[in-house]
Amino acid sequence: MRVAAKRPLAVTVRTARPGEAVPPAGDADIAYARTTDPDGAFVARDAEGRVLGLACAAVREDALLLIALDVGAAHRGSGVGLALLTAVRAYGSARGARSLEVLAPDESSALAFFLRAGLSLRTLVLGMEAEPVPAAPQPVAALAAVGPGAPLSGWIAALDRETRGFARPRDWGHRAAGGHVVSLKRGGRPVALGAWDEGTRETALGPIAAKTPEAAADILSMLAARFHGTRLSLALPVEARVLLLAAGALGFRAVSTRVLLTDRRRGDLRRYAGGGGRFF
Ligand SMILES: CC(C)(COP(=O)(O)OP(=O)(O)OC[C@H]1O[C@@H](n2cnc3c(N)ncnc32)[C@H](O)[C@@H]1OP(=O)(O)O)[C@@H](O)C(=O)NCCC(=O)NCCS
Repeated sequence: MRVAAKRPLAVTVRTARPGEAVPPAGDADIAYARTTDPDGAFVARDAEGRVLGLACAAVREDALLLIALDVGAAHRGSGVGLALLTAVRAYGSARGARSLEVLAPDESSALAFFLRAGLSLRTLVLGMEAEPVPAAPQPVAALAAVGPGAPLSGWIAALDRETRGFARPRDWGHRAAGGHVVSLKRGGRPVALGAWDEGTRETALGPIAAKTPEAAADILSMLAARFHGTRLSLALPVEARVLLLAAGALGFRAVSTRVLLTDRRRGDLRRYAGGGGRFF
């Protein structure tokens, strides 16, 4: 789609009020981000008060995650996106964030916008899906439930820091509270952590974070066996080659591409798979 440069608009950006909708309505990631970061959502309006665009962000340790940024199609190319991103960055800076990360659609205007804003390509993320496989389930005894009371700031935080580059025990805790996190142990020590999200249409596997790529592939196979008979989805960074091979053997096929952009390169994504939504 061709987007012509337009005249700059008079834009006012302010924090979204509690309860003020930041569409799309019913979006679980935006709803979750607004509970952890109630002041991290922003609305841009023109001089008449009409909504031009919206943004939503969450701070995790020293990283600022841009969860959503959307400018109305008629108002693009007029500086609204930049005004919203500036507000989001100020929010992050005030809370100690030193880097920005966004999982963007594989779309030229979004890429141009974020590259222009100083971000770089961190990786491509393949969206993968597997049709229900009526395979005999593998034994799942080796998977231990990670309950809400688990020491999420300990080894889980360390593992998350190694794989993603910053720790998000709060997000693991959110999933553990729902009973959706398991660990894989070897010799009594956890070597991998995996979560899932059961939707009406499919079960989204991930995040997965592991000590080694092989342990990541093992816990993926165990999770797939646990949910055999249901449609599965998975988000894989392209450098997670061992996970990609394991996913292929399990019947996963790539169906979409997203782009992870950051302004600070860190973490080891060879042993990481993202969750289904924007909290990659
Ligand atoms: C990406 C998006 C937020 C950009 O918003 P926008 O209001 O059009 O962007 P701005 O007008 O503020 O542009 C800021 C800069 O990015 C550049 N830019 C924006 N779109 C561009 C394009 N298609 N090609 C090249 N540069 C572009 C602008 O030229 C401008 O740079 P300049 O100040 O040097 O002229 C908007 O296109 C959008 O909502 N897209 C759909 C949703 C989406 O993809 N969101 C991002 C992921 S969450």
